[in-house]
Amino acid sequence: MLNSDVLKNEFIFYLKEKLLFNDKKIYLDKETELNKEQQNLIQEFIEKKKDGMPLDYILNSTKFYENDFYVDSRVLIPRPETEILVDYANNHFSSPIKVLDAGTGSGCIGISIALKNTSSKVYGSDYSDDALNVAHTNKINLNVENFSLIYADWLSCFKAESFDLIVSNPPYIAYQDPHLEGLKHEPNKALVAKDNGLGDIKLIVEQSTEVLKRGGMLMLEHGYQQQEKVENIFKRNHFSDIVNLRDFHNLPRITLGTLK
Ligand SMILES: C[S@@+](CC[C@H](N)C(=O)[O-])C[C@H]1O[C@@H](n2cnc3c(N)ncnc32)[C@H](O)[C@@H]1O
Repeated sequence: MLNSDVLKNEFIFYLKEKLLFNDKKIYLDKETELNKEQQNLIQEFIEKKKDGMPLDYILNSTKFYENDFYVDSRVLIPRPETEILVDYANNHFSSPIKVLDAGTGSGCIGISIALKNTSSKVYGSDYSDDALNVAHTNKINLNVENFSLIYADWLSCFKAESFDLIVSNPPYIAYQDPHLEGLKHEPNKALVAKDNGLGDIKLIVEQSTEVLKRGGMLMLEHGYQQQEKVENIFKRNHFSDIVNLRDFHNLPRITLGTLK
């Protein structure tokens, strides 16, 4: 159940964004009656919140890194911890590089890297046509010329030694995880992975050893309880200089390494 303060703040935000009400109208105006369209929009908000829909899906918009991204229930809503991955990538490379964002979803990671590294070529891949359509909308909305989309089942279609950097926020939740109940509006294929949540991570690390250039970097987001296992997968696959980045709660959430 949503905390009532959160719900109240979301409602106020919705009134401002969707009905274009200002503070005066919201807090002081007790006189003006709502027209039919406004009543319908408010009813729609109530119904969707009753069904547990996140506000970002209701508004079809989310903030990520420095931009507003279009989102709907075909893609995961980008999470704040993923910005840590983007920030590291943006601060680590200075010369033009070739980057792959595998499992791009809304395109949030790849587009945020492409916009900061305009001389680099960034590719976003996904095996969901729905996700690729949403990522395409964001590429157009944000006018990102150096970001291209590719249909791919992880890294299977890419040539050997194609990329300097591969980044991914893959599905990593185990099928039986109780948190899935609270995520019913987000696409299942963006969330769950076999092998206790590690199946896709293993595949990406293994396939990266072919597709990354020697000396290239792999960065993966994962669950905070998966760090040790992910680090071992990197080690088994000949990655060195393995580093873990922590999220805003100081939990280990991103592992990166360099291909020997
Ligand atoms: C956790 S979401 C991440 C989306 C986005 N990168 C983000 O950080 O918000 C994982 C994405 O991986 C995609 N995906 C899952 N399995 C895949 C596969 N076998 N090949 C390619 N993409 C896959 C899903 O469709 C989804 O868009």
